[in-house]
Amino acid sequence: MNERAKFSSKLGLILASAGSAVGLGNVWRFPTEVGENGGAAFILIYILCVIVLGLSVMTSEFLIGRHTHANTFDAYKQLAPRSGWVFQGFLGVFTAWFILCYYCVVTGWTLKYLVDALTGSIGSITDSAAYFQAFTSSPWLPLAFMAVTLVMTHWVIVRGVQDGIEKYSKILMPVLLLIIAVPVICSFSMPGSKEGLRFLLRPDFSKINSDVILSAMGQAFFSLSLAMGCLCTYASYFGDDAKLMKTAGSVAAIDTTVAVMSGFIIFPAVFSVSEVAPDAGPGLVFITLPNVFQMAFSSVPWLGWIFSVMFYLLLLLAALTSMISIHEPVTAFLHEHYHLRRSTAAVIVTAVAMLFGVLCSLSFGVLNHVRPLMDMTFFDFFDFISAKIFLPVGGIIISLFVGWKLDRSLVIEEITNHGTLHIPVWLVRAYLFILKWIAPLAIGLIFINELALL
Ligand code: TRP
Repeated sequence: MNERAKFSSKLGLILASAGSAVGLGNVWRFPTEVGENGGAAFILIYILCVIVLGLSVMTSEFLIGRHTHANTFDAYKQLAPRSGWVFQGFLGVFTAWFILCYYCVVTGWTLKYLVDALTGSIGSITDSAAYFQAFTSSPWLPLAFMAVTLVMTHWVIVRGVQDGIEKYSKILMPVLLLIIAVPVICSFSMPGSKEGLRFLLRPDFSKINSDVILSAMGQAFFSLSLAMGCLCTYASYFGDDAKLMKTAGSVAAIDTTVAVMSGFIIFPAVFSVSEVAPDAGPGLVFITLPNVFQMAFSSVPWLGWIFSVMFYLLLLLAALTSMISIHEPVTAFLHEHYHLRRSTAAVIVTAVAMLFGVLCSLSFGVLNHVRPLMDMTFFDFFDFISAKIFLPVGGIIISLFVGWKLDRSLVIEEITNHGTLHIPVWLVRAYLFILKWIAPLAIGLIFINELALL
């Protein structure tokens, strides 16, 4: 077998994995959830979920990928040949493909809003809800922007692991981490922003109920890119000296920092425009924020310009590095499992995503009346099936697989890099206990809760 691709440096592998984790989930979904679930108390629970569940499941995915150095499907096949566990490998790959089909639609919107911010036209939108509605329901424009984001992703993927994923993560992620400070400062400088800070910093524990906890857990899984082939595939490119638990810690820390910073961008600004509520839902960044930008434009035009450009650039960079990581598991699977050329595999993945992406995008307009399942549009259907059904199922299977099925000595060999790293015994015990009991139960609850909401 010829040499398999590998990340060339530790920084590269951390930035690539962080690129996967930091995405629309942080800048778009997290503030929405915080707004709807009562602010600071939600954030605290979220952080707890990341530390207890997120880190364990992430380490497990790393372990499976790094041990087998194979795409997700073949990884499970190698570890548990001819058993039902192979299903998880398959599920991971397909979940990724499903997510790509609607993620590219929202990434396309982000690109459109970045263009509007660059030209300054965002400052003159009078009714941002109507503007958003008109744009997303128009047939061609969203498709064009979606196609551009898929082509950009494709362009990186065909360049391979080192010259594509790693190289671009090393450029895009530091840029993202640098520019995030700009919109934070702009947001703080808006009049009346203190109210938003209070919302983010002062926990109101009376708001916490089981729904809030379950939402926090679901959000942690989505934001950390867990439970599908993503991080497992990236870890198959890790070198033998990568420290799995430590890498999981760094990735989770970067991801959570960006999520909280996004809260610091959005809420002070939103509270400063008093007529908009913090629980405005998914429209927050495409409807509520443009209102904020108009206000900034009308008082200090250059501030409005910088604020809006930096914000949508941040969102776009975050979304693109995640799209790359969602594309890769599928490409790696087709390339390695069916022995297709990498470029051919990538073309198939992009083309299929484009096809279904068109359906998802049009479901905001001309295809709105087509409801494949339970009165959901195509977009909602793809989101529901992947994020609400496949992800929790995958999370449970991964925890059970590493907790119960895998040889304990193999698990310990991997997390200690064959005994060369010292990991305290209590940590190993806690890790295994979480995988065996806590994670399957907790994720099972999210799952049942999602189903009950139907
Ligand atoms: N974590 C990314 C975000 O926050 C999205 C993402 C990438 C993802 N890969 C994933 C979500 C795998 C679930 C599973 O936007």
